[in-house]
Amino acid sequence: MIGRRRFLKRFLILASFIAASISAFITLPSMLRRSERTIEEKIIALPKPPPISMSVEDAIQKRRSIREYKHPIDLIRLSQLLLNSFKKVGEGYGLLTAALNEVDVYLSVGEEKVVGVPAGVYLYLRDEHALKVHREGNYLQELSSAALNQPWVEEACFNIVLFANLREDSRLREGVVELPHLCAGVLGEKVYLAAVGLGLACVVIGAFYEDRVKAIFEVDSAKTPLYIISVGDLV
Ligand SMILES: Cc1cc2nc3c(=O)[nH]c(=O)nc-3n(C[C@H](O)[C@H](O)[C@H](O)COP(=O)(O)O)c2cc1C
Repeated sequence: MIGRRRFLKRFLILASFIAASISAFITLPSMLRRSERTIEEKIIALPKPPPISMSVEDAIQKRRSIREYKHPIDLIRLSQLLLNSFKKVGEGYGLLTAALNEVDVYLSVGEEKVVGVPAGVYLYLRDEHALKVHREGNYLQELSSAALNQPWVEEACFNIVLFANLREDSRLREGVVELPHLCAGVLGEKVYLAAVGLGLACVVIGAFYEDRVKAIFEVDSAKTPLYIISVGDLV
């Protein structure tokens, strides 16, 4: 009698194991498809941006630091601003070429501040011209607090934050002046010129607590934030 019960118990365990394996085998492809979809969904492809019509000369004359913004802004202008400011550079920048291309460009987008882009932290994929979701949620208030409570950081539609590796052994370091800081200056000014041409407003922010900005962006610990650039629509 005991032997039969044991036999039955073992038979049931074996049967449930076989059933679980079959069901896993059947559902595995759809689970894989679902995870592929999740990865796809975490990339926001940016529209092909039309060229900016304003001449560089006009943009240089008109550029100003602006700290008051309207929102939301449209995806086309976000796309134009990012491509014109951060497209990887080829020859012609001398020593800065590699360093310019290695700067990481992150965005912190506010709630309902950019049409088609949910609030979150994004990495701008400079080669693919797309946004990769890094963290979901609105961090503009936290970022403003990390930038000594400068209100325009929170008021902006989004903030661009440039990060680079400043470590001693980094090949980006060159003599006394750290190349990434020069690169931040170059890229920041490109944002200003593109923003003027697109009817957007921006200001670069150099006053912030590095560690608090790093904590918000959850970047690789070797990376240092160089600049915050607050951007919004012109009032
Ligand atoms: C390295 C650097 C850091 C800056 N940091 C801040 C900042 O933390 N907050 C701010 O409101 N403006 C900041 N600015 C913007 C300057 O205040 C602004 O460029 C300057 O007043 C000249 O005005 P303009 O850009 O309209 O010509 C910074 C500018 C530079 C170049």
